[in-house]
Amino acid sequence: MHIAVYPGSFDPVTNGHLDIIERASKLCDKLIVAVLDNPSKMPMFTVEERVKHLELILKDKPDIEVRSFSGLLVDFAKSVGSNIVVRGLRGVTDFSYEFQMALTNRSLDSDIETLFISADTQYLFFSSSQVKEIALFGGNIDNMVPRIIKDEIYKKVVKTQGMQKSGGI
Ligand code: PNS
Repeated sequence: MHIAVYPGSFDPVTNGHLDIIERASKLCDKLIVAVLDNPSKMPMFTVEERVKHLELILKDKPDIEVRSFSGLLVDFAKSVGSNIVVRGLRGVTDFSYEFQMALTNRSLDSDIETLFISADTQYLFFSSSQVKEIALFGGNIDNMVPRIIKDEIYKKVVKTQGMQKSGGI
């Protein structure tokens, strides 16, 4: 059985991520979407919230599992019986970072293979960071994120702004 791991921050998950998830899941028997639990990255959504978003969106896909992980990706992959890491590539700007990460992971565990999937052209130009910035300024994120998390993003942006104003963060 081929198990692949698609790791990321998913803060928040975008339609670009979902496209990669759907396409990657067709290449393996089971795809594990692995959400990085790394509070030092100061995510907008907690790891529990990000896992919940993905679970909600992927609830009808029995071959896709959502998990959180901390520590090294290669250790997580091994713990779930996988040696395949999937990453999406939006272009040359992603490439140097992704290539370095793939080489680092192979230097940590020579069994690990990274499978790059090119992003669909309609998703080439946006990222989780852009989604957050656009939402912060009240812009339209309809085409960028799944409908069921859109309102959560706007709510979180308002909450985060309120906390910043009151000196909370
Ligand atoms: O969506 P992102 O933030 O680009 O995902 C990055 C991620 C989570 C894949 C990467 O930061 C990661 O694998 N972190 C776990 C720590 C690790 O294994 N580091 C060594 C490889 S760079």
